[in-house]
Amino acid sequence: MHAIRAFQCAGAVTLALMGVGESVAADAARGRDIAQRWCSECHVVAPGQSHGTDGVPTFAQIGRSERFDEGSLSAFLAAPPHSRMPNLSLTRSEIADLAAYIKAKQP
Ligand code: HEC
Repeated sequence: MHAIRAFQCAGAVTLALMGVGESVAADAARGRDIAQRWCSECHVVAPGQSHGTDGVPTFAQIGRSERFDEGSLSAFLAAPPHSRMPNLSLTRSEIADLAAYIKAKQP
C-alpha cells in the first residue's frame, strides 16, 4: 500500500516538472511566429516568403552557418554589430524559440 502511494506521488511530481519544462523549452513554432512578426520585414524567414530586403541573409542561410546557435543569436540580438539591423528587445525565451526555429528549418 505504502509503495503504491509513493509511486503515485512520484508520478504527480514528474508530471508537474514536465509541465514546467515545457513552458521554458524552446518552441520552434513559437519561434516562427516571432520571426514572421519581427524579422520578416528584412529577412526571408520561411521558404514561402517572396522577398525580404536585398542583401539580408535568409534564415535558411543563417541556420546553416556553423557558428549559429542560441548563444550566438542572443549575443547578436543583444548588440547587433551592424547598424542596419535594429536592436529588438526580445526575452530569453523568445530568443530560444527563434534559435530553435532557425535551426529546425534546416534539412
Ligand atoms: C530592419 C531590418 C531587419 C530586421 C527587422 C531584422 N534583421 Fe537581422 N539582419 C538585418 C541585416 C541588414 C543583417 C545583415 C548584417 C547587418 O548588416 O547587420 C542581419 C543579420 C542578421 C543575423 C546575422 C547573420 C550572420 O550570419 O551574421 C542574424 C542572426 C539575424 N539578422 C537575426 C534576426 C532576427 C532573429 C530578427 C527578428 C527578431 C531580425 N534579424 C530582424 C536586418 C534586419
